[in-house]
Amino acid sequence: MPDTSNVPVARAGAEVAARLAALSGARVVVTGGGGLVGSRLVALLRAAGADVTVLDRMDAYPGTTRSLFGLERLGARVVVGDVCDRAVVRNLFAGADRVVHAAAYADVAACTRRPDIAFRANVQGTQVVLEETARAGAGRLVLASSAAVYGDGEDAARGPQEFREDQPLVPLSVYANSKLWGEHQTRLILGGSDTEYTVLRYFSVYGDPQVPKPGSHSWMVAWLSMQARVGRPMRLNGGGVQVRDLVHVEDVAAATALALVEEEAAGRTINVGTGVPTSVREVAELIAPHFPGSRCITTPRPEGDPLGGYAATARCRALLRWTPAIAVREGVERYVRWLAATPQAVPDWLTEQAA
Ligand SMILES: NC(=O)c1ccc[n+]([C@@H]2O[C@H](COP(=O)([O-])OP(=O)(O)OC[C@H]3O[C@@H](n4cnc5c(N)ncnc54)[C@H](O)[C@@H]3O)[C@@H](O)[C@H]2O)c1
Repeated sequence: MPDTSNVPVARAGAEVAARLAALSGARVVVTGGGGLVGSRLVALLRAAGADVTVLDRMDAYPGTTRSLFGLERLGARVVVGDVCDRAVVRNLFAGADRVVHAAAYADVAACTRRPDIAFRANVQGTQVVLEETARAGAGRLVLASSAAVYGDGEDAARGPQEFREDQPLVPLSVYANSKLWGEHQTRLILGGSDTEYTVLRYFSVYGDPQVPKPGSHSWMVAWLSMQARVGRPMRLNGGGVQVRDLVHVEDVAAATALALVEEEAAGRTINVGTGVPTSVREVAELIAPHFPGSRCITTPRPEGDPLGGYAATARCRALLRWTPAIAVREGVERYVRWLAATPQAVPDWLTEQAA
């Protein structure tokens, strides 16, 4: 592993913006640009002067949630469609300089319940995106993958560990398996083509305007905050011993945009996380003081819910010359403040469950 202690790294703001100026005028397609990460990325790319096209089914959230993402205000061309639709993808990718593939059936529990949808979106759709990216001759594709590919790491009995990009991968869920397939397929299709690629393994993304999906057990900050907000106990699956590396969506967007421009990132797989482990119980303890009277209960640990771990960050520092800017305490406070100012963010189904 390279010694990265002296590598100058950008955190956020002006330094990142200066490096993203390389994207001014570039034609960038963002699949899944209507989602949480995608919409934040589109905002950053538009601020850098990129010409952005979004391809998204727009059905992952109800309209009230989607309006919180503010995509329509960003000046991107938005096409409502499916990444499995080859004719649409081919048409949109023609002339693209860069592609970010973030569209996915992006929920662990939903993929377990509906492996058919997971297969279609995350496998078949990714195949179409990769083939059409190569065909269009785009300069680079960035694949949004997931730390879920690590599962519980090399030795689950040791408890939560640091996950290095080059360690053996043991996906524990349909979702994780589909993301790992996407990683390998990206290398197989784009390796040796005219299109460079970078695989990013996001750890646990959080931050406003994240809204939980029904039946999901992911996205702890949003889930626990909203449960506390509507007066329900915060449910800690398995007592909340699982560890997550919580990385703010603003940081994830910055890392993804930098992966489009940093030369050293070509052909590499890079963790996007803070390197700091936080247990689910600790997340609840950060949220609780904002909701006097809130309490926690222990619930069973669902299938496919990993014990978790935290990111090795050396590659991210060396190859993207970047490190996350938002620490978990600050990020959780920002989320809780946003939720207080945005009560309509609590979805109807969650309010009804609380009644
Ligand atoms: N949020 C996290 O914690 C996290 C962690 C690791 C990796 N990721 C990955 O990051 C990416 C973005 O995740 P997110 O959190 O923004 O999820 P999200 O659900 O908010 O966004 C995904 C978007 O993809 C769209 N989509 C789904 N299937 C599609 C299809 N077949 N065709 C076109 N669009 C489709 C959805 O409508 C949605 O807008 C995903 O690839 C996900 O697997 C997310």
